[in-house]
Amino acid sequence: MFRTNLAVLLCLLLNVVYTEKRKPPNIIIILADDVGWNDISLHGSSQIPTPNIDALGYNGVILDKFYTQQTCTPSRAALLTGTYPIKLGLQGIPLNAGENRSLPQHTPTLAERLKELGYSNHLVGKWHLGAACKEHTPTKRGFDTHFGYWSGFVGYFNYEVSAPSPLDPKQNFTGFDLRDNFTPQWGLKGQYATELFTKKSVEIIKKHKDETPLFLMLSHLAGHTGYNGTELGVPDVDAANKKYSYIESIERRSYADLVNIMDQSVGEIVEALSDKGMLENSIVLFFSDNGAQTEGLYQNFGSSWPFRGLKFTLFEGGVRGTGVLYSPLLKNKKYVNRQLIHITDFLPTFYSAAGGNVSNLGDIDGIDQWEVISGNVSTKRTEILINIDEESGYSGVLGYGGRYKLLNGSFSNGLYNGYYGDSGRNSTDPSYNITNVLNSPTNLAINKLTIKPLEKTTIEKLRKEIDIGSGSCRSINRLYLCNDLCLFDLYVDPCETENLINDKNLRDVVKDLNKKYLSYLKEVVPEGSHNVDPESDPKRFNGTWEYWLKCDNDNFFNVMQKWLFNLYRQFASSVLKVFII
Ligand SMILES: *[C@@H]1O[C@H](CO)[C@@H](O)[C@H](O)[C@H]1NC(C)=O
Ligand SMILES: *[C@@H]1O[C@H](CO)[C@@H](O)[C@H](O)[C@H]1NC(C)=O
Ligand SMILES: *[C@@H]1O[C@H](CO)[C@@H](O)[C@H](O)[C@H]1NC(C)=O
Ligand SMILES: *[C@@H]1O[C@H](CO)[C@@H](O)[C@H](O)[C@H]1NC(C)=O
Ligand SMILES: *[C@@H]1O[C@H](CO)[C@@H](O)[C@H](O)[C@H]1NC(C)=O
Ligand SMILES: *[C@@H]1O[C@H](CO)[C@@H](O)[C@H](O)[C@H]1NC(C)=O
Ligand SMILES: *[C@@H]1O[C@H](CO)[C@@H](O)[C@H](O)[C@H]1NC(C)=O
Ligand SMILES: *[C@@H]1O[C@H](CO)[C@@H](O)[C@H](O)[C@H]1NC(C)=O
Ligand SMILES: *[C@@H]1O[C@H](CO)[C@@H](O)[C@H](O)[C@H]1NC(C)=O
Repeated sequence: MFRTNLAVLLCLLLNVVYTEKRKPPNIIIILADDVGWNDISLHGSSQIPTPNIDALGYNGVILDKFYTQQTCTPSRAALLTGTYPIKLGLQGIPLNAGENRSLPQHTPTLAERLKELGYSNHLVGKWHLGAACKEHTPTKRGFDTHFGYWSGFVGYFNYEVSAPSPLDPKQNFTGFDLRDNFTPQWGLKGQYATELFTKKSVEIIKKHKDETPLFLMLSHLAGHTGYNGTELGVPDVDAANKKYSYIESIERRSYADLVNIMDQSVGEIVEALSDKGMLENSIVLFFSDNGAQTEGLYQNFGSSWPFRGLKFTLFEGGVRGTGVLYSPLLKNKKYVNRQLIHITDFLPTFYSAAGGNVSNLGDIDGIDQWEVISGNVSTKRTEILINIDEESGYSGVLGYGGRYKLLNGSFSNGLYNGYYGDSGRNSTDPSYNITNVLNSPTNLAINKLTIKPLEKTTIEKLRKEIDIGSGSCRSINRLYLCNDLCLFDLYVDPCETENLINDKNLRDVVKDLNKKYLSYLKEVVPEGSHNVDPESDPKRFNGTWEYWLKCDNDNFFNVMQKWLFNLYRQFASSVLKVFII
């Protein structure tokens, strides 16, 4: 017994020495919603100025072959569990408010994993991973605090959201969804979501105690549509119209404004980290959960140009992620990383950057890419299951290091299979304002940490390197419907114009990718019911969306059973230790 205690003590001591040597980095994820590849100015269009996001990328790493899932819920599930959504039953249509679906309780989240390493975890903004019972909600899934909403989106000013009524198809359940942990924040109605979420995030940074590392996830409402699915919420529509008068679509002018305000939010966050002396030990990741929704349901007038398809589809326009990462801890900075990276990789990557041992993470799909991003070394990732939606009947596998993509079926009979969105490269569009990038709060804050400040020539070089939108990419005349099987060679045809499924030289490629698809197919967990539960009606809860079910874990006997089991386990293991000695 004594020897065990000594060993434990030694371990603890070593642990202290280790942590004193290198404090785990603060991890800041800023997540945009439905923002397309062509909606940030780094990617070659100057229509929407995003100097802060751009500065983050130019000073850090621009992720070129980074893939997300096709919509909100699957992407957020993949991000927070490091697991393909097909294994969680969350691969399909995103959750409506009032649905009894959620992240499986037994799958640890990134927040829970970072908690093991001593992090203080905070979520601001969107959750969208279930809220039928208390156990589904963010503060029960590893976050110490949550300020924001549980559903897929809310109004930019009224924080209301609807779900189709299960009782009457012509009616909606409508309720308020803005809370500080569990307390509805009616008093904040009227405040602009992007600014409110930024203010709360800055408060968290200011109040943060330096002894613990910080994990902050700011999950913005922008650029999703708000309220009833059409709102493009900006503080001043007329001002937006004037400022972006060079954009033809009047709605896209509002969209441009709301993306630009989100970019300012990035600047405020980086500035707050810098003011607090935290930036020097931080990793800041910005990315969008999926491609733009230029048309159709929740149309936001975003643009994934020059890529094919929209959100919901498995074309590049739906899943090729917009992502940049900055950290002073990176070995290589100011470069375009062209290694294959999937959204599931962030969990092990951050866990590893935080000093965790990734072999503790068990059987997940994500792999540790910290050295890949920081050291620009070759990735071990050779393939990605893009998705299998067994209900809607479409799937996609990416193999051969990201070269070949096999698609089988398409979303809603090819509804969004075309090419959409503004190129932002018309003569009427403004030219890129590099001074604006150099003067951005993000760049100024980063400058304080380096003796080699960002230069104009570096910006020009990197922006050219990442720009896909040139001439030949879109030859729409060769467009195939692609409702059946499609094979694309993304190295030569990133815009997915030419279906190679019948190419005799690529038969083995098709066979091989299909084999991978079939093996993933065996692992699909059915999506389960998408029904809105009549019991969820906000009318029952003073007009607010609340959790309305009691889950298993809630129940007294289950809690007792768990407690007794743990007690037994502790007892058994100490008996075992004594026995070994
Ligand atoms: C909610 O979902 C859980 C997990 O799938 C299930 O066990 C439970 O029966 C569901 N409850 C209702 C009321 O649908
Ligand atoms: C959403 O609300 C706006 C403003 O109230 C209204 O003009 C529009 O028709 C509504 N759209 C839907 C789909 O309900
Ligand atoms: C319910 O919401 C949908 C989509 O948000 C909208 O099209 C419809 O008009 C709404 N119906 C009612 C009765 O509010
Ligand atoms: C990580 O954990 C594995 C399995 O528990 C162990 O074999 C390995 O030595 C550990 N690595 C480090 C660096 O601690
Ligand atoms: C990153 O690695 C690739 C090869 O894998 C190489 O072509 C490129 O020049 C490297 N970039 C930097 C900045 O080291
Ligand atoms: C394509 O998907 C359908 C189901 O949507 C399936 O029946 C079919 O076997 C798949 N085709 C191939 C070649 O895997
Ligand atoms: C240029 O703008 C016009 C309308 O102003 C539009 O029709 C056209 O598609 C734009 N061109 C590109 C390449 O986006
Ligand atoms: C570029 O942005 C700066 C602000 O950083 C502004 O002062 C300047 O007028 C802009 N230049 C152009 C050509 O718009
Ligand atoms: C009910 O909601 C209103 C805001 O709509 C709020 O002012 C009031 O305090 C709430 N009542 C209770 C009992 O929570």
